[in-house]
Amino acid sequence: MQKVRKAVFPVAGLGTRFLPATKATPKEMLPIVDKPLIQFAVEEAMQSGITDMVFITGRNKRAVEDHFDTAYELEAELDLRNNDKLLALVRDMFPSHIRYVFIRQSRALGLGHAVLCAKHVIGDEPFAVLLADDLIDSKAPVLRQLIDVSNAHQQASVLGVQDVARSETGSYGIVSGHPLADGIERVTHIVEKPRPEDAPSTLAIVGRYILSPRVFHHLEQIGHDGRGEIQLTDGIASLLSEETVVAARYEGTRYDCGSKLGYLKAMVEFGRKHGEVGEEFGQWLDNGRKSPG
Ligand code: G1P
Repeated sequence: MQKVRKAVFPVAGLGTRFLPATKATPKEMLPIVDKPLIQFAVEEAMQSGITDMVFITGRNKRAVEDHFDTAYELEAELDLRNNDKLLALVRDMFPSHIRYVFIRQSRALGLGHAVLCAKHVIGDEPFAVLLADDLIDSKAPVLRQLIDVSNAHQQASVLGVQDVARSETGSYGIVSGHPLADGIERVTHIVEKPRPEDAPSTLAIVGRYILSPRVFHHLEQIGHDGRGEIQLTDGIASLLSEETVVAARYEGTRYDCGSKLGYLKAMVEFGRKHGEVGEEFGQWLDNGRKSPG
């Protein structure tokens, strides 16, 4: 059985929905309390056994690279001040067995194109894709849950899915299929962002995938959609003709941090649980937000 060791993080998007905050700062660096979205995704991957983190970056994304690099000046300064706690926080981001790779996607040609940019680094092994916008709060890391499903189904490709309102199908890849087990379906049909009246179901793909390397071949074959982009969903639709793809409802609460509302909800919920300020923040919320800041 081939282990899933590598994960692709597409981070080249412009983040227009968060302007002006994202004019000079990548949207993946927006923090939930004190941790950037991209770090949540990387930590989830690490906890799921991933060792190779492959970022597909673009213009204005230097901060993502810097975030996963050693910060010598900062470490020296914290060391000088004997601030061991913060020093550990910064250093612990880099277990020595984790490797970071950065690939530049020079043009924004869609999620499928971004994933295709990782082909030469992934090679011929199953891999994960994580979209940092989708922040999922769960007991067991969602990626780990999907890897377990893949292993239980002859290493099939696995898509993390959740039910959405029919009015929202136009924001997601939508799948339909035959039930295989509790919460698990064999995908027979998959379509990118259908209108509610055309959607084959209301089961939406969230930003977690385990994919067979055969998907690269299909992404190369399908060509661009009407907007000039290569969609990952279309590549997976093509993959269905020769391999099994499974949709798995995961355990966890997802926050759509690509939208302002989802981001605010995540901030509140993670704020409530935060080790340092959570208790006081929770009291403030529950007491009608009356105490002074
Ligand atoms: C992308 C995918 C879509 C998926 C979604 C999950 O869309 O193309 O299939 O359902 O992520 O967040 P985006 O949100 O980048 O438009």
